[in-house]
Amino acid sequence: MNKLTGSMNVEKVTNSMLAESLKVMETGHSPFEKAIRLMELPVCDAFVKSGKLAPIKFAPGTKVLEPNREIADSFPNSIAASKNRILAAGETLSRLATGKKVAVMFSGGPAAGGHNVVTGLKQILGPDNTLLGIKAGPKGLLKGNFFEITDDHVCHVMNTGGFNLMGTDRTKIEKPEDIEKVKYVCREHNIDAIVVIGGDDSNTNAAFLAEKLFSDVKEDGSGVQVIGVPKTIDGDLQLGDELPISFGFDTATKIYSEQVGNILRDSSSSLKYWHFIRLMGRSASHVTLEVALQTHPTVALISEEVRRRDITLPEIVDSIAETVIMRAKKGINYGVVLVPEGLIEFIPGFTTMIDDLNDKMAQFKDELIHKDIRGQLQFIYSKLTQTHGELLESLPESIKFKLMADRDEHGNLPVSKIETETMLSGAVKARICELDASIKFETLNHFFGYEARCGASTVFDSAYTYNLGATAGSLILDGHTGYMASLTDLDKGARPLGIPIASLLDIEIRKGKPAQVIEKALVKLDSPAFVYFESRRNLWAENDLSNSPGPIQMWGPTSRQLPKTVALNREYNSLNFNFSAGQMD
Ligand code: FBP
Repeated sequence: MNKLTGSMNVEKVTNSMLAESLKVMETGHSPFEKAIRLMELPVCDAFVKSGKLAPIKFAPGTKVLEPNREIADSFPNSIAASKNRILAAGETLSRLATGKKVAVMFSGGPAAGGHNVVTGLKQILGPDNTLLGIKAGPKGLLKGNFFEITDDHVCHVMNTGGFNLMGTDRTKIEKPEDIEKVKYVCREHNIDAIVVIGGDDSNTNAAFLAEKLFSDVKEDGSGVQVIGVPKTIDGDLQLGDELPISFGFDTATKIYSEQVGNILRDSSSSLKYWHFIRLMGRSASHVTLEVALQTHPTVALISEEVRRRDITLPEIVDSIAETVIMRAKKGINYGVVLVPEGLIEFIPGFTTMIDDLNDKMAQFKDELIHKDIRGQLQFIYSKLTQTHGELLESLPESIKFKLMADRDEHGNLPVSKIETETMLSGAVKARICELDASIKFETLNHFFGYEARCGASTVFDSAYTYNLGATAGSLILDGHTGYMASLTDLDKGARPLGIPIASLLDIEIRKGKPAQVIEKALVKLDSPAFVYFESRRNLWAENDLSNSPGPIQMWGPTSRQLPKTVALNREYNSLNFNFSAGQMD
């Protein structure tokens, strides 16, 4: 018998009552999950009629988005229908559509709250419409991989993190043959609407699908409605007051803040380590900024500032080394440096080198495919400009290898695998040796990434996503297509909106070619959140003012807190969200 997997000594435990109750808890029934499923969520007033959840109508609001001319030409149906106007919530629907078949999928990286989007959607569609789950994201849609979502399914996943109900993937749907496959699948399964729960790239998929499925999909000439829901822990799917934040950001940043708070406390307890912590979040530094505001680290780098202020790698290294020396002179030989995941793409020189590399990797794809990694590097050095070739060659081997990794289907560099924190701590160490070899500088490197994407969702993410699901379902029942569900005024009762997705697209270079994609919202240096951070960071560097926010709180005074960056940037008067009384029977 295999000693590791066998069931030796089970006799002793299987008889006990405790063992029996442990078995019952084996599949998502921990006491915590049981309690969390029963947690009541606030619902926006708009969805409550006579004490019951009810779908609503939408009407064009006053806000008009202006898409780029070239984009407008690619989305004639969607733009003619929306006139680029954001839809505002109206009265509850008086006549309810019945017999609709709606398919929903997760797309891209997981983010806490996805299950509640499905729950809100299922409950607003009601028993007279059918909700199908698409297994494994866009790839599952192309294959027609559906299952019916029942009340039992949603009861089981309500308020729990993760995307495990259906799974997810990052397939890009853009080629004409992919669109034909989707049309075929929709006809075969008689699908009336598709809901895409995803980030910027997934909602770009949704914009294209909405346009191509606008009409003439079914035999009667009708189309298939497509609605997006804004998800991503990166927080880079934002549109001012109209889309204050994507879901999943709050949970991920609260988990990272707990971890960073713990490390800050460890560093000031053990008094000997400098921790370099890379935080997930891809290109934008919203995650790092939020965690910095929550925890007050010694140093937090913000990629957007590095690019905007043209701060070179040696300058970044010098500035951290100066902080280390300044603290050492006060007898403080420890600290915590936060590094945003995508920093490398923002450092002057690296940005253009990576663009050149993306370009050449796409251009010489066929030549590169037959070479091993060292052969690929040798080949590519000569294709890059001399400056870019030299920069690439100067990097540590582990970084070079990761920069050569395959881009995902949307053309993104896999920054989650590039150990920028290790590169930085090594460079700072070397610099300190040059400046003052007597300084004690012992480093530990960390990456906080995948731990947080599927964490148990915060009360904010649970409530936000339930209401986003109800918004998406209402947009469908009210006959709309090509919109992203959103909520505004998160501090004042919250109001559902529909944002025309095509109007959000812009042209970006991906895999060396111009592509129409939703522009990522980056940290703005004049935003209230960044300005506040800038006004405090020197104090945090000089003194120990660290904060330990602790684990996510589901009940109690701080359980209603929004991300600080959202409250500051939207100029709310309170850190707490308010989704109104919304009392249901
Ligand atoms: P989305 O943009 O799809 O939400 O993904 C976010 C993210 O978690 C990034 O922060 C990270 O860089 C990336 O996914 C990791 O991707 P993968 O799951 O493919 O390793």
